[in-house]
Amino acid sequence: MSASTLTTQNFTWHIASGLAPSLRDSSQFEGLLLAARDVRRNAYAPYSNFLVGSAVLMDGNLYRGCNVENASYGATICAERSAIFAGIADGGRSIAALALTTGPQSGTPINQRTPCGICRQVIAEFAEADTPILIDAGEGASYAGEIVSLEQLLPWRFKL
Ligand code: THU
Repeated sequence: MSASTLTTQNFTWHIASGLAPSLRDSSQFEGLLLAARDVRRNAYAPYSNFLVGSAVLMDGNLYRGCNVENASYGATICAERSAIFAGIADGGRSIAALALTTGPQSGTPINQRTPCGICRQVIAEFAEADTPILIDAGEGASYAGEIVSLEQLLPWRFKL
């Protein structure tokens, strides 16, 4: 699955093969990951007990979001959309990079760590094919996680 690696200050990341993610803003990757891990502590998830944190770099600013569940389950919002919508409300329009963490133990399969389909479509509204998505591998992992491009996450995506 991993075609190459990127080393930042304290971590090594796996870069999946396919359309390469942009590494233009890689100096911010660790800050995004740590912000996502930090905001995850505020997640409101009493129904699923599945806590998610996300941080997004938009037009030079970092925004954070967590999942917020509701007794009417369909009213729940995911962490990634919370972060992106905070950026949009602040005037941001362009996603340079997005990180998310589901706080897994090292070895958690990718399907429990990757953005859901709705969030992929929302990312696509404000991102480019090579926009990097940083998927946390979990604390205690020997590497920070995977970096994938939007094109890898959501090929044939819808845009008007
Ligand atoms: N969740 C996210 O916050 N992001 C995702 O990409 C996947 C799912 C949340 C929604 C819900 O609160 C919980 O995780 C379980 O699905």
